[in-house]
Amino acid sequence: MNKEVYARRRAELVNQVGSDDIVIVPTSPERARNGDVIYQFRPDSDFHYLCGFSEPDAVLVISPGRIQGEVVLFCREKDAFREMWDGRRVGLQGAIDDYGVDDAFPFEDMNEILPSMMEEKAKVFTTVGRYPDFDSQLLAWMNQIKLDASRGKHAPYEFVDLNHILHEQRLFKRPDEIARMRKAGRMSAAGHQRAMEVCRPNLYEYQVQAEMECEFRKAGSHYNAYPSIVAGGQNACILHYVENDCLLKNGDLLLIDAGAEYECYAADISRTFPVNGKFSPEQRALYDIVLEAQDAAFQKCGPGHTWNEPHDAAVEKISQGLLDEGLLSGTLEQILETSSYTKFYMHRTGHWLGMDVHDVGDYQVEDAWRELEPGMVFTVEPGIYVNPSSGVDEKWHNIGIRVEDNVLVTRTGFENLTAAAPKTVEEIESVMAA
Ligand code: GLY
Ligand code: MN
Ligand code: MN
Repeated sequence: MNKEVYARRRAELVNQVGSDDIVIVPTSPERARNGDVIYQFRPDSDFHYLCGFSEPDAVLVISPGRIQGEVVLFCREKDAFREMWDGRRVGLQGAIDDYGVDDAFPFEDMNEILPSMMEEKAKVFTTVGRYPDFDSQLLAWMNQIKLDASRGKHAPYEFVDLNHILHEQRLFKRPDEIARMRKAGRMSAAGHQRAMEVCRPNLYEYQVQAEMECEFRKAGSHYNAYPSIVAGGQNACILHYVENDCLLKNGDLLLIDAGAEYECYAADISRTFPVNGKFSPEQRALYDIVLEAQDAAFQKCGPGHTWNEPHDAAVEKISQGLLDEGLLSGTLEQILETSSYTKFYMHRTGHWLGMDVHDVGDYQVEDAWRELEPGMVFTVEPGIYVNPSSGVDEKWHNIGIRVEDNVLVTRTGFENLTAAAPKTVEEIESVMAA
């Protein structure tokens, strides 16, 4: 736990709010799964980014100029009985000692304390719209302050979405974040390699998934960054297929899109390989187009290029490849002009990556695609998906391919954080033959 890192992040944020404003950031609520079982808890990314605190029932408040200390955490108190049943708690003193907040109060006392902290403030920067129950609570506190107007107090006059400033900050990854993302990338790559090693016909998709996720867990990832997509044969043409319960057939491809989360940072890797370890000529032809498209996109991933350039480069290669193989007709210009490639390539080539798999940050600035800058991390994930309804020769049907890596923009180019996952036809066939 590096307290200074979080203090620096808060200082950077506070620089952008006024001295008479207040920042209020709740963590995620716990959610019921069934009966008295709750979904595994994951802290809110904005909240965790600003304080590193991982328990539920917590709200971070930053009040510039507060005499008793600017940074306040509301959290659960220590409770020997509850800790015996539900696990350890950091507690109020632990929050101050270990997380570097100035003051900590019991979560239960927020109702009494927080409204008085909001009095006299101009704007409240908060996660507007993300947690409706918390939004209602904030409004109730506002009303409570207004009712007290006769005491000469006034309520804040504006709620401001914290996203606008905090997400710009989160877009640029600092060294401690990059270290975590490298680690998430490496352990995820090892899981994908494991999947290739164990895959064979007549296994179920979930059996390959189990072997892969076992690598994630053994390497220290407690959660997946998102539900794994383990899609054999025609399932690969369903972009977000997550049932993972079909038998893997000889002669089919297996598309896996999965990543480990490590200390709240995501990896997001896709690999596609033949269930029996050997690409058929048709599979190989389309696979190589996707690899070429990814390479073309990589050429546009350095600083100075704009967000859309990797996508445009990938689209052009895929269109040309599908034209050469006879899946598309016309000229390259016509295909690009009419977007007829979207029959086979219907998604974008990437997205920001960080604490959230589809991470925060604007893609455009003043209606123009933004320039890539050092510290940005994003995915490069071209694909080709041939649905039988596309009307092309049957030999192409149900081939679904996606290849996805995670790149960090550096001062001189980019670093592929997930390069360790086997990718070329030769690498894959050799791993699968071993
Ligand atoms: N795993 C979801 C995506 O690639 O965007
Ligand atoms: Mn992705
Ligand atoms: Mn993915």
